Amino acid sequence: MDPVTNPYSPGAGRLPMALVGRETQLKAWHTALKRVEAGRDAQSLVLYGLRGVGKTVLLSRFARIAEDAHWLVARIEAKSGSSMRDMVGEAFHGPLVDLARPGVGQRVLKALKTALSFKASYDTSGVWNFGVDLRDVAGGGADTGVFESDLSKLLRDLSEAAADQGTGVALLIDEAQDLPAKELIALCAIVHAANQRQDRLVVALAGLPSLPRRLSEAKSYAERLFSYHGIGALQPDDARRALVDPASDEDVVWSGGALDKVMAEAGGYPYFLQQYGQDTWNVAAESPLSPADAELGIAHGRAALDTGFFRVRWDRATMAEKNYLRAMAIDDDEGSQAGNIAVRLGKTVKSLGPIRASLIGKGLIYSPVHGVVAYTVPAMATFVRQQDD
Ligand SMILES: Nc1ncnc2c1ncn2[C@@H]1O[C@H](COP(=O)(O)OP(=O)(O)O)[C@@H](O)[C@H]1O
Ligand SMILES: [Mg+2]
Repeated sequence: MDPVTNPYSPGAGRLPMALVGRETQLKAWHTALKRVEAGRDAQSLVLYGLRGVGKTVLLSRFARIAEDAHWLVARIEAKSGSSMRDMVGEAFHGPLVDLARPGVGQRVLKALKTALSFKASYDTSGVWNFGVDLRDVAGGGADTGVFESDLSKLLRDLSEAAADQGTGVALLIDEAQDLPAKELIALCAIVHAANQRQDRLVVALAGLPSLPRRLSEAKSYAERLFSYHGIGALQPDDARRALVDPASDEDVVWSGGALDKVMAEAGGYPYFLQQYGQDTWNVAAESPLSPADAELGIAHGRAALDTGFFRVRWDRATMAEKNYLRAMAIDDDEGSQAGNIAVRLGKTVKSLGPIRASLIGKGLIYSPVHGVVAYTVPAMATFVRQQDD
């Protein structure tokens, strides 16, 4: 089939033609926005799961829903090297430019002035110009240098500006497990205070399965602060839709046999469904896609995953780290006791501490519970066993 019209999209953060099986989370987001618009408090959300399950694309969908409702939306990705202050500040610039029109009310003007002070707190050379006169406007003060109070001030004034418009403020943070502890602590405190004041703020965090634990370590009340959504493999009916719906938009049909093969191979993981869907489409000569097409597509897809999805992670590991990952593969993808890994490698748990920490830092493994580690990508064990370097 024509690769130009191929409707599948394997790749980190690539929006699927059919985003399926996330109705619960979309409903929770929708409810949160509607509650805020009605002047009520709303629960912020945490999405957690392995790599490739669709957290980033769900966060993108959240952002778009809020933007379509004319909310002030900032979306950032936590990464080492940039502080949350800079990232949040820059992310609000675009929405604020859109908001700054002649004749806007005092609360909007105040928010703009506060945003200017927030900007000045991390960037003394660049100045924003919203094209409106802010000289006699109250506001500012988000530049004390204390992150929690500055961000709190910014979000609060933005929230009042949004109230003027009948909307709200949405802050979306991807890879949130990588936020430093002090930023997570500040974030929890800000959301907590904002809820109590019924500010028009909703936060959505996405990250690895270690995120809920990192949050409750940051603030014990984090458990009640957010609604937690484990994002995992799709149910069979949804997995089928992820394959069938995009094809039917192109008047292409999957045979039952082809569907069964791809679904069995993908195990419901969105990334794998997109990959095998794409490759089956590309090898097929005509519709309906046949079981033979699926077999060949799966072979191509596996090779693509091995040289891409899995390989990029493997290549980031040092020799000693690879040995550690190999020792984990004996437990398949179920997670491994640190003690068992030590025995397999003939080392002590303590001496392996730095290797373990480094693998966690590189995002290759995480700790689901104390004393246990697991791969951050599904089906990693099979790949690891096949490597001989
Ligand atoms: N709900 C879904 N339905 C169909 N495909 C999806 C879904 N969620 C994600 N995908 C696909 O899975 C892949 C991984 O998505 P991504 O959001 O990057 O995952 P994560 O952020 O969890 O690592 C992408 O190719 C995307 O198109
Ligand atoms: Mg992601």
